[in-house]
Amino acid sequence: MDSLRPEIIDFHGVSMSHYFTDNWENVQNFQARPDDILIATYPKAGTTWVSYILDLLYFGQTAQERQASVPIYDRVPFLEICLQGMDTGKDLADKLPTSPRLIKTHFPVQFVPKSFWEQNCRMIYVARNAKDNLVSYYHFCRMNSVQPWPGEWSTFFHDFMEGKMVFGSWYDHVNGWWEKKQTYSNLHYMFYEDLIKDTGRELDKLCSFLGLSPSAEEKDRVTNGAQFDNMKRDNMANYSTLPVMDFKISPFMRKGKVGDWKTHFTVAQNEEFDEDYKKKMKDLTLQFQTEI
Ligand code: PPS
Repeated sequence: MDSLRPEIIDFHGVSMSHYFTDNWENVQNFQARPDDILIATYPKAGTTWVSYILDLLYFGQTAQERQASVPIYDRVPFLEICLQGMDTGKDLADKLPTSPRLIKTHFPVQFVPKSFWEQNCRMIYVARNAKDNLVSYYHFCRMNSVQPWPGEWSTFFHDFMEGKMVFGSWYDHVNGWWEKKQTYSNLHYMFYEDLIKDTGRELDKLCSFLGLSPSAEEKDRVTNGAQFDNMKRDNMANYSTLPVMDFKISPFMRKGKVGDWKTHFTVAQNEEFDEDYKKKMKDLTLQFQTEI
């Protein structure tokens, strides 16, 4: 499996791996529909959680069989993925039978295919604090053989600060989408930490953005269904059906917490990280919580 591990490449100024650029032309020509919903995140920021919530919200009552038998990565295709022997994300999205179509991307904002903007599609961006995001990404790269090998913790730690990650710099990603929100009103920007603190409140905000008004009962069903332990048990949500991931190294549904970075960062690393963070995160309107 280790032979699958890609190199990091520079792609239009962003660090990427070929698994997410090989289908570039087709992805860029993707034809969005006005009711498509794009779920955009930096990797490991809560994509699967929010995908699961949206899938339950829209199809929880009408498509229970689909939820019990179709993995989340097929229900919510990953637009730019292109792995040998599997349908591309773009083909899966084209073939989605649902309405609306829920589509996942990790693209930085400038890579989003233009038809999503032309169709004025709703987009949901989920952001997670850099420290926990880094830790989660580190374990993901260890267990997922289609990611570059992460190396030692301290190497990965510095690579993250330098933006040498697949999908580029976390700092550029969260800032790029944040800036877009100022001019594109159909973008809902939300935070992993808020979802942990009060899933119900975040669900209300999401519903108001989506123009949905589920009953209190439906909302409970969604918040309960999307709890970490439930999703971890659900083989259609926990990625256990993907052979490229080795759960003996680390499970996909790993901890699901805010503040796990404290068990990884040394005191010196934390100081170095904070120092660098201040220089990169100049827009003080974008604030993250690293503990709750
Ligand atoms: S991916 O591969 O980029 O799509 O991964 P992504 O889904 O964005 O992020 C995975 C992390 O999200 C955590 N997760 C959750 N946390 C809390 N509650 C729920 N329901 C939930 N579902 C997924 C998952 O455990 C990964 O975080 P870590 O910190 O590694 O546990």
